[in-house]
Amino acid sequence: ELPKQITIKEVGPRDGLQNEDAFIPTSQKIKWIHHLAESGLKHVEVTSFVHPKKIPALKDADELTRQLPKKPGVTYSALVPNLKGLERAVACGVSEIAVFMSASETHNKANINKSIKETLPILRQTVKEANRQQIQVRGYISTAFFCPYEGHIEAKAVQMLSETLLEMGIYEVSVGDTVGTASPLHVEETLECLLKRIPRNRLAMHFHDTRGMALSNTLKALEMGITTFDSSCGGLGGCPYAPGAQGNTATEDLLYMCHQMGIHTGISDEKLLQQALYIEKNIGRSLPSKALQVWKQN
Ligand code: HMG
Ligand code: MG
Repeated sequence: ELPKQITIKEVGPRDGLQNEDAFIPTSQKIKWIHHLAESGLKHVEVTSFVHPKKIPALKDADELTRQLPKKPGVTYSALVPNLKGLERAVACGVSEIAVFMSASETHNKANINKSIKETLPILRQTVKEANRQQIQVRGYISTAFFCPYEGHIEAKAVQMLSETLLEMGIYEVSVGDTVGTASPLHVEETLECLLKRIPRNRLAMHFHDTRGMALSNTLKALEMGITTFDSSCGGLGGCPYAPGAQGNTATEDLLYMCHQMGIHTGISDEKLLQQALYIEKNIGRSLPSKALQVWKQN
């Protein structure tokens, strides 16, 4: 039986924009984020407090989070790799962060310049300090299915890493199909393994739609009782340090599927589509979202 309601975590302003060459002016990002929240989203990942040279598109993280109008009841989260990132986020009044690492050594190194063994104590310190300051922490595991450098990733490794992160004090693990290779069968195998040790309400799925599998994978995860999904307005997204990674599940496409199936999201299709159109115009090329392209023609 499918869940009656799900939580969608919008990652467009972070995962979406991080992969764009064009720098979207801070004021336009703020406008977009404001309207995303107005469309009914309760959770928006707005930027990253990473090294600005590594992700130039998000180099305005400090100004953006300081200036962002906050709608009551909406969580505005930011990606943070270490204590330095946390310090910046705290100074800007951020109330939730997301830490991140990869299940594969090579992607972890390419992305955050550390081995997995070196990363764990950094994340432990960061999570501990965040929690001490009443900041909620979410955790991503990237390349949870496949690594563009190493190939197939064992579900057992993801299970162990998830348990380690939860034990550090994160409230939820977002399981990332970073380059979008997973099939529903692979999702089933990985989730079967994870659910042996981890309650389903501690898991979220983060699909990239590189091969058009994101919604099929989402349906499989829904059937297995997962109720939190990351997606990106317009279907923007990708990791500059994972060759081949493309857009996340498009939020509008996810809304269409859920609403057609009677699954509540609390988000307005119409308002979200307007925001997809807004960011498409600002980026200046056609975005991958199917629902957006259909809506534009009507
Ligand atoms: P590093 O060079 O190893 O850092 O980078 P370091 O600790 O050795 O410090 C070097 C310099 O960086 C120092 O400055 C630090 O102060 C500075 P210097 O003394 O030389 O002037 N520094 C920072 N500056 C600003 N903010 C910080 C920070 N930390 C250190 N937070 C680091 C390590 C992690 C910082 C770097 O590699 C980095 O920024 N990586 C970010 C990569 C990234 O954002 N990737 C994309 C997001 S992950 C993703 O997309 C996947 C996901 O969507 C899930 C999925 O799809 O699977 C989440
Ligand atoms: Mg991603």
